[in-house]
Amino acid sequence: MADIFEDIIKENKIWTDEVWGKINRKLKRVSVSAYDKLPFTSKNGIYCNYDKYTGEESDKNICWWTNGFWPGLMWLMYVGSKDDQYRAAAEHAEELLDKAFEIYDLLHHDVGFMWHISAGINYRLFGGHKSKVRALHAADILAARFNSRGKFIRAWNGRNNKGRVIIDCMMNINLLYWASRETGDPRYKYAALSHADTTMRSHLRPDGSVRHIVDLDLETGEPIEAFGGQGYALGSSWSRGQSWALYGYVLSYIHTGKQEYLDAAKSVAHYFLANLSEYSVPLCDFRAPEMPVIYDSSAGACAACGLIEIARNVPKYEQALYLKAALRILKTLEKDFCDWSDKEESIVQKGAGAYHTSDEDRELPLIYGDYFFVEAIYKLKGFDMLFW
Ligand code: GLY
Repeated sequence: MADIFEDIIKENKIWTDEVWGKINRKLKRVSVSAYDKLPFTSKNGIYCNYDKYTGEESDKNICWWTNGFWPGLMWLMYVGSKDDQYRAAAEHAEELLDKAFEIYDLLHHDVGFMWHISAGINYRLFGGHKSKVRALHAADILAARFNSRGKFIRAWNGRNNKGRVIIDCMMNINLLYWASRETGDPRYKYAALSHADTTMRSHLRPDGSVRHIVDLDLETGEPIEAFGGQGYALGSSWSRGQSWALYGYVLSYIHTGKQEYLDAAKSVAHYFLANLSEYSVPLCDFRAPEMPVIYDSSAGACAACGLIEIARNVPKYEQALYLKAALRILKTLEKDFCDWSDKEESIVQKGAGAYHTSDEDRELPLIYGDYFFVEAIYKLKGFDMLFW
């Protein structure tokens, strides 16, 4: 019987190869020009760190949650090309990140985003001791945030945040699944599974949409109060949060084999696809006034990665739905949102930090938009090392 997934991949091979070529041409140059940075966005065509974007230089910036995406992007390119220039850039960025470990009290649950795809990939590829220690150190920091009675991982520090849980953490817990495999100690996995189970009750709504932030009871894990977070309002659906859930739940399925996680990912995917703009690129919030039109390209790129993984994991006759949807999103991003010129270091334009920000903060390239776009194309190219 024909493999539908592979057939669709083959039908789109020319397009995929062309886009991979454009990515490689751009990043070969940028991996040199941005070598000393941990880019967050770009200004005047040049990648810049989070502190250059905010104009605020402080220790907090090295702990910024997006700082693992640049090394992660360089590793995607290394695995896809075996070009040592990318490896050198990724390893240098991993060293720059070490400073964040010195500022322990400013670290948060996003240590997963920061180290799982930087040091974590380096270790999985080359087995170096320093990288292993970095990734395990990050896993210990994340595991220590687990509330064993409420059964959740708290997102942020501070007295008022003891029960704050955000859907984004579904991506961070992949570090814990890896740490259990690496050490043979199941406690990391217990924390990850428990957290995923809790968020399916507290964050996932019956219609497949997800809440961004919920305050949970410290003893029982019962929801106390929800917040609109980076979305339009309480009860709305911030599209990047939907993507974190879509990709996060399918990854939890891949790491555990628990069917409920695949079902949760599919349910978020159905909601996501029903709400895509005609244009196939998500708006920043699916439940917001028609105007102003605010796209979030990064939500589209992350969702595409999750859709590809769902397609890989569902029975044959379901595969086309998810894989073709991922391709639709990626093709629109490539055609209308990507800047392939030499005047711009970033790739995907028009990401949104959050709904309630200035125009400047909405229409901006984001390193994680670039990362997930490239990760999705890497998957279509057939490179099978799973980064998360
Ligand atoms: N994790 C924060 C965001 O997605 O903007």
